[in-house]
Amino acid sequence: SKKPNTTAAMSSPPELILTQDELKKIAAYKAVEYVESNMILGLGTGSTAKHAIDRIGELLRQGKLSNIIGIPTSTITHEQALSLNIPLSDLDTHPVLDLAIDGADEVDPNMNLVKGRGGSLLREKMIEGCCKKFVVIVDESKLVDYVGASGLALPVEVVPFCWKFTASKLQTLFKDAGCVAKLRVISGSVDHPYVTDNGNYIIDLYFKKDIGDLKAAGDAMLRFAGVVEHGMFIDMATTLIVAGELGITVRHK
Ligand code: 5RP
Repeated sequence: SKKPNTTAAMSSPPELILTQDELKKIAAYKAVEYVESNMILGLGTGSTAKHAIDRIGELLRQGKLSNIIGIPTSTITHEQALSLNIPLSDLDTHPVLDLAIDGADEVDPNMNLVKGRGGSLLREKMIEGCCKKFVVIVDESKLVDYVGASGLALPVEVVPFCWKFTASKLQTLFKDAGCVAKLRVISGSVDHPYVTDNGNYIIDLYFKKDIGDLKAAGDAMLRFAGVVEHGMFIDMATTLIVAGELGITVRHK
């Protein structure tokens, strides 16, 4: 049978079926092996990144790491890091980071990402764009053949002003890919917009087909004045850690 490119064996017996959250935790713990004392760290957002931040907090508490400074990518991560006594700072003070660890919603074969289902894509992109190393941690369900293939949204952060106009521009831009643009609403509500940490809205784009050239698609979106940022992280990840039922794979760019 085909052997995966496994660089670390899981301790669990192979017949044990792991939950998605357990796989996320395995990927997260593996990523934290790249963290060293005295690093400035980008702290991601989401259920996978949360495991990594918990682990960093634990290693600091145990004295196995010291002098870490975290730069959180969202208010929720900021609160989690504070609760773990991880010293925090920001990009104004530390414009160059050693390492960031974060999850993703989709990862294509070139290690391009879709991020932002958690709504934090803008701060994630600002911070992860300033890192010497960006380690992406996912369970294997996040691997896709092309951006949009999972059927999940490509999130786009937009200013609230005339968001319907911007949504319509985005939908028209990708009409050949069968795009449907939807305003993200607060879970459980019908029409109450989800508001990001930056006071903006999220338009979720759903595609029926591959949108093709990601760079061209991203640049076209950013030409609309109402668009703040999109959730494609093109050519940003330097390391990808994937946890699956057969083990962990680590890929470097
Ligand atoms: C938040 C993100 C998350 O990293 C992404 O949504 C993955 O989340 P999870 O680890 O919960 O699956 O981009 O904006």
